[in-house]
Formats: sequence, structure tokens, C-alpha cells
Amino acid sequence: MSMEEKIPVLQISHLNKTLGNRRILKDVSFETYSGEVFGFLGPNGAGKTTTIKIAVGLLMLDDGEIRIAGHDLCREFEPAMAQVGGIVENPEFYGYLTGYENLKIYADVHEGVTEERIKEVVHLVGLDNRIGEKVAKYSLGMRQRLGVAQAILHRPRLLVLDEPTNGLDPAGTKALRDIIRRLAHEEGISVLVSSHLMSEMEMMCDRVGIITDGVLRSVKPIGEMISAATAPDRVIYVLRVNDAAQAKALIGDLLPEDGEETIDGQTLEISVPAENAEETLADVNGVLAKNGIRIYTVTPKTARRLEDVFIEMTGKGGDQIG
Ligand SMILES: Nc1ncnc2c1ncn2[C@@H]1O[C@H](COP(=O)(O)OP(=O)(O)O)[C@@H](O)[C@H]1O
Ligand SMILES: [Mg+2]
Repeated sequence: MSMEEKIPVLQISHLNKTLGNRRILKDVSFETYSGEVFGFLGPNGAGKTTTIKIAVGLLMLDDGEIRIAGHDLCREFEPAMAQVGGIVENPEFYGYLTGYENLKIYADVHEGVTEERIKEVVHLVGLDNRIGEKVAKYSLGMRQRLGVAQAILHRPRLLVLDEPTNGLDPAGTKALRDIIRRLAHEEGISVLVSSHLMSEMEMMCDRVGIITDGVLRSVKPIGEMISAATAPDRVIYVLRVNDAAQAKALIGDLLPEDGEETIDGQTLEISVPAENAEETLADVNGVLAKNGIRIYTVTPKTARRLEDVFIEMTGKGGDQIG
């Protein structure tokens, strides 16, 4: 779907929320569009669930404005809610009923949800073969997919999923991720999905917003989010040599200040300006070879991933991240 076709579905402007006497959300603004997966990324306690609860009508906002498919959440609550489906806490189902029967109960309280629509959503979440089984026998991943099926039964334009892959195994995570992407890209739904896992956002989302301490720090297409913060003005090479200290002394003049550091006796890391990186590296190799340094391997360090950007942006250590 091209950018021109995308229309805003969730519009959050200057959202503020205080709980107890703590400001939880501070002037949060962002939009999500039809046909995209928007990742809401932040460490635990950042304010993701609070934002989502407000967006799905479970919590009142203090200040600001939220529109869903053009309807003001406060003044036109019902038409706004008609366009939202979501899973905030774990979806609750009757374990002694089948997946189909659970959906049927839900469908019966929503006008216009036909048997045909139930079949359609079951297919969309890939439960065709298991929908006749009791939910008690479902894996967590299947329950989440049934949750998604239930959330989209009434054809909402916005689907909101709060940390939907928590607790799922890699296969379950991939299955759910594929469904989420298909719902956005093929069904045109605007999907807002939160996570504290950067690696996951990277694989699932088209755009991502980073929230920490109730403040939305940055919203960008996923590729831009990675490349903006990782814009390679430097390229790092790791050299394995016979004498790293001597090598370091020899190449000092070829590199910018602080451009080289020894890691251990045989490992040297050099940081080279990105323009002319290969020529500079060739010069380095030449000087080393001429002075009798033996070069075993030269490896460019892999580009940083979203995870690195996130850590840099939030200053949070590795314990915050999965
Ligand atoms: N009812 C509440 N009263 C006071 N503080 C709350 C309440 N609910 C959540 N908080 C606090 O708000 C902050 C954001 O929580 P939450 O939105 O759940 O974050 P996240 O989903 O990103 O982990 C946390 O510091 C949490 O302790
Ligand atoms: Mg949460």
C-alpha cells in the first residue's frame, strides 16, 4: 500500500494522564495509519499500557484529544469504539467451549457479525483446523490468535495489541507476527502493537514510536529509526594481528583521534571515517604489512540494530530488554 492511500486511523494529540499523584503520560502525540503496523516500544513502566487503555476506552484521559477513524473518543464514544478491537489483558475465553463457540457468543452481542464473518476471521488467524476444539486444549499462542480473531470480528479499522507475544515461544511469536502483518498489509487494518522487545519490533513493524518515562521520544519508519541513529559516519573494522599494540602505534597517524583501540594482544578495533573507508583500510593494511605486522583477518563490525539505538536513546541497560 502506498503512502498516499494511508489514512490516519488513531490520532492521539497532547495526551496527558496522571495516576495517583504521578504524571504517567506527558504530552504524548502520534498517529497510526491504515495498512500499517505501528510499534509502540518502551521499557516496562514507560506508559504503553496506560496509553493503550485510554485508546481502547478502558481509562479516561485527563487532557488531550484522541480520534479514532475521525471520531472524538470523548464526545463520540460509541462510533469511536465501533472502530476499535483490542487485546489489553490476556483474552478471556470459556475453556470448556470450542474456539468457534467462544467466537459465536461474542458475535451474538455484536450486530452484523455473520457466520460467514466468523469463518473469515478464523481463517485470517490460521485456526481453521483447530476451531472445533475446546479452548482449554489451546496453546497460549492459539489463545492469542483466537483473541485477535475476536478483536476483529466487528471489522474495526484499528486493532490494538498490548504486548501480544509475551510468553509465546519462537514459533508462536512468528505465527502471530505473520498474522499481524497480514491484517495490516492485506486487510488494511491499522495495527498498534506494543512491546518492550526491540528485536521483535524490528521484525514486525512498519513504523515505531519509542516511549520512555511517559514521553514519546521519537516516531519513525523502522528503517529510518535504525539508520538515523546508526548513520555510519564511521565504519568499524576489527583486525586480528600478531601484535595489536605495535599495530596501533604504527597506524595512529592514518586515523582520526581515538580512531583505534586494542581489545587484546591480537585484536585491534579501528574506527574509520565512512567516506573513503576502504581506501583508509587499504592504507592501514599497507603500513602494517610494510612494518612486519601479520594481518590474519579484517572484519567489518555489523551494523547496529534497533536494539542499540534504543539503548542509546533511553540509556537503559541490558536488563530492561529482552
Ligand atoms: N493505577 C495506577 N496508579 C498509579 N500508577 C500507575 C497505575 N497504573 C500504572 N501506573 C504506573 O504508570 C507507569 C506506566 O505504567 P504502564 O502504562 O503499565 O507501563 P508499560 O505498559 O509501558 O509497562 C508505571 O510506572 C506504573 O507503575
Ligand atoms: Mg504494559
